[in-house]
Amino acid sequence: MTEKKARKFHIETYGCQMNFSDSEIVASILKAEGFEACQDLLEADIVLLNTCSIREHAEERIRKRLHYFRSLKRKNPGLTIGLLGCMAERTKIALMEEEQLLDIIAGPDSYRHLPGLLEQAGSGQKAIDTILSADETYADIQPVKIDSNGVSAYISIMRGCENFCSYCVVPYARGQERSRDPESVIREAKDLFLQGFREVTLLGQNVNSYQWKAGKETMDFPGLLERIALLDRKLRVRFATSHPKDLGDEVINMIAKYPNICKAIHLPVQSGSNAVLDKMNRKYTREEYLGRIRAIRNSIPGCAISTDIITGFCDETEEDHQQTLELMREAAFDSAFTFKYSERPQTIAQEQYDDNVPAEVKERRLREIISLQQELSSASNHRDLGETFEVLIEGESKRSDKQYFGRNSQNKVVVFPKTAQKPGEYVKVSIKRATSATLIGEAC
Ligand code: SAH
Ligand code: SF4
Ligand code: F3S
Repeated sequence: MTEKKARKFHIETYGCQMNFSDSEIVASILKAEGFEACQDLLEADIVLLNTCSIREHAEERIRKRLHYFRSLKRKNPGLTIGLLGCMAERTKIALMEEEQLLDIIAGPDSYRHLPGLLEQAGSGQKAIDTILSADETYADIQPVKIDSNGVSAYISIMRGCENFCSYCVVPYARGQERSRDPESVIREAKDLFLQGFREVTLLGQNVNSYQWKAGKETMDFPGLLERIALLDRKLRVRFATSHPKDLGDEVINMIAKYPNICKAIHLPVQSGSNAVLDKMNRKYTREEYLGRIRAIRNSIPGCAISTDIITGFCDETEEDHQQTLELMREAAFDSAFTFKYSERPQTIAQEQYDDNVPAEVKERRLREIISLQQELSSASNHRDLGETFEVLIEGESKRSDKQYFGRNSQNKVVVFPKTAQKPGEYVKVSIKRATSATLIGEAC
C-alpha cells in the first residue's frame, strides 16, 4: 500500500510582527492536520499569502504578487492559492471575485478553519471565512517557528484594536481587542527559553491595555512583564507597541526594576501638533506625550525611545509640520518609522476628512522628517562611543563571516569581530565606531 503524500504549503508574510506571529500559528494548525511546510514556493501544492492593508502601497505589493501567482497557476492548475490576514478581512469576497485565481480567503480569526477551507477548495469550491471573533486568541496553539534565528521570538499577547485612530484600518481588519490567558503566554516563553531562545517580544497593537480576568484572578501588563522577566535572568523581554495614552508609571517602573526587561520603548507619536493629533483621534496632546518622554528619561537612564510618524494627514499645515520636527528634536528619538499618510477605505478619516495635502508636499515633509531623524539617530549612536554594552549575539554579520551581529538592550544593532561565544550567548562589547544605523565595537 502506498502512503498518501502530504500536501505541501508555503506561507509568505507581509506587514507587521503580529502577522509574522500569525503565520507561525497557521503553520502549526496545518502541520497538526498532516500538511507539510515547505520553503520553496515552486514545490508547494498550497500557497498562502498573509497580507497587510495598512497603507495603499502594502496592498499594491500584494496585488503585484498575485499577478506572479497567476503565471504559477497556469503552469500548475492544481495549485491552491489562499489569501490570509488583514487584506483578506478588509476586501472579503470582493477580491475573490476580482482575482479569480484565489481559492481561499481567510481573515485573522479564521485560521482554525483552514484545514476545512482547504478541503472545500480541494473539491473545487471557493472557500471564504472572514468572521471576526470576540475571544479567539489561539492561546492553546504552539506556534511553529518559520525563518527563525533560534535566538529571538515573538509572542502575541493580545489581538485586535479598539482605539479607532481615524486613519487606521486595523480595528476593521482585526476586530475587537482581547487579551490572551497569561498562563499560556508564560508557558510559551518558558518553552522558548528551554529551546534555546534568549529574547521574547510580547506583541499587541496596544500592549499597555493588556487585561486578563478569570474569576477572581486578574493580570495587567506590568504584572505579565514581571512574570516573564522572572522566568530567567538570561531571557530578555521586549514589547510592542505602546500607545502613549496608556503607558503608565507602573510599566516604566517595571522596566527600570529588571535588567532583563529591555531598555527600549516604541512609542508612536504620529504628529507633534495638537490639532492633527485631535483629528487623528489619538487621545493625547503634544504636552502629555512629552510628559511621558520625561517620565521615561527620569526613571530609566539610557532608555532608547523609538516612534512612528505620519506626515501629510488631512489639513496638516506647514506650522503643524514644524511642530512635528520640533517635537522630534525635543524627544530626541533614537529611531523612527516614518510614513506619508495613505487614505484607507472605510476609515473615519476617509469618510469625514479631505485627503488634501498634495503628494509633493507629503513627499517634501517626509524627506525633512527622515533627514532630521538621521541626524538624531546618528547623534544617539555617537553618544554611545566608548560605552560598553551587553550584546545578545544573533548571528554572523551579513557583511563579513569574521564578524557577529547582535543587539544591545536598547535594540541597537552592534557588529563586532567574532568571539568564542555562539549565537544566543551574551558578550560585553565596547563601542569604537558608529554610523546612523549601526554600532561597531570589540568584545572586552
Ligand atoms: N498599534 C500601533 C501601530 C500600528 S500600525 C500604534 O498604535 O502605534 C503601524 C504604523 O503605521 C502606525 O503607527 C502609523 O504610524 C502607520 N499608519 C497606520 N495607518 C496609516 C495610514 N493610513 N497611512 C500612513 N501610515 C499609517
Ligand atoms: Fe491603528 Fe491606532 Fe489601533 Fe494603532 S492604536 S492599531 S494606529 S487604531
Ligand atoms: Fe498590516 Fe494588519 Fe499588521 S494591516 S500592520 S498586518 S495588523
